[in-house]
Amino acid sequence: MDQSPLGNRVPFLDLDAHHRPIRAELDAAIADVIDSGAFAGGPFVEKFERDFATYCGCKHAIGVGSGTEAVWLALLAAGIGAGDEVITVPNSFMATAEAITYCGARPVFVDVDDSTYTMDPEGLEAALTPNTKAIIPVHLFGQCADMDPILDFARQNDLIVIEDAAQAHGAKYKHRMAGTIGSVGCFSFYPGKNLGALGEAGAIVTNDQALDSRIRVLRDHGQTQKYHHSDIGWNCRMDGIQAAVLSVKLRQLDRGNRLRRSHAAAYNEAFSGIEDIITPVAADYGEHVYHVYAVRVEERDHALWLLGKKGIQVGIHYPVPIHRQKAYHSLGYEIGSFPIAETLAHQLISLPMFPELSSSQIEQTAHALKEAVLAAASR
Ligand SMILES: Cc1ncc(COP(=O)(O)O)c(C=O)c1O
Repeated sequence: MDQSPLGNRVPFLDLDAHHRPIRAELDAAIADVIDSGAFAGGPFVEKFERDFATYCGCKHAIGVGSGTEAVWLALLAAGIGAGDEVITVPNSFMATAEAITYCGARPVFVDVDDSTYTMDPEGLEAALTPNTKAIIPVHLFGQCADMDPILDFARQNDLIVIEDAAQAHGAKYKHRMAGTIGSVGCFSFYPGKNLGALGEAGAIVTNDQALDSRIRVLRDHGQTQKYHHSDIGWNCRMDGIQAAVLSVKLRQLDRGNRLRRSHAAAYNEAFSGIEDIITPVAADYGEHVYHVYAVRVEERDHALWLLGKKGIQVGIHYPVPIHRQKAYHSLGYEIGSFPIAETLAHQLISLPMFPELSSSQIEQTAHALKEAVLAAASR
């Protein structure tokens, strides 16, 4: 059957299926906020901060308005500003680099490892200058970067390590939770994330008391007490409804991550022995949480066309690496600067991945992709 009937479509993400079983709890949590009037900051945010710090096994969690704000505030609190350079990777969502630029600093990229697609520590030495102040490894697709060599390099060169854990809620690196390995970790709770709000939200986690205090001041207009401003900050507060929702959804996170891992294993099994489909590598140093399950396919255009025709929704993360974005033309990076990130931009396809994905949806997706790849190989 070439054309899938409408009912046979496979969505990339199904938030409705995720929310249905907990809908009554979500409704009650939202009603509590409405009844209490604690809409901006307040007790629901404080509760979620305690819940999330406990989940991550760290001392402090600070709720903010988005993951972008989390990275930006972490940098500001670390004192990063004009004239500074921050090393990160080009295959991330734009927000990682944007936050660096919004502090007045300059993003400097290093290429990624060919198997995990996360920061290649080998690239750090060449990126280092006297202006380098920080490193932001990105735990891409739900897998931690290889943090120990990055931390060693940072220690040797007096740099702060800020983890972009926006895609890695609950992921682990050598038994340490993503976000708690460097000095500070940044999370996004964008609705499609493994832990997603019903709107925009983010959080910063740290064990450093001074950073925690500074971020709390900066996220609230630099106020130390109402209408007394020690710093120029911004409004980056988390809102009460998102915090209450997140406390409910946090209880589902580990179960969701376990299901994602078993779906990834099913995809891997379905693609085993097919040389033209490179499945994701889960490094043995940690625990992957498959925010994204992305395969590498050389003849991507044909595969995208066929998957689309069969009603299977897929994504591309990311079609243009950050150093090649028009917005960063001024940084002067040529094509070929980061060959692995650039190759990934042409080859990766993110397949449907969410906890409620059914085995028949996995089979349907895997069958269509195999058909596309085998057809391309026989042309
Ligand atoms: C790696 C990464 N960093 C930062 C962000 C920004 O988070 P937000 O969309 O909540 O601002 C995202 C969001 O997709 C992300 O994937």
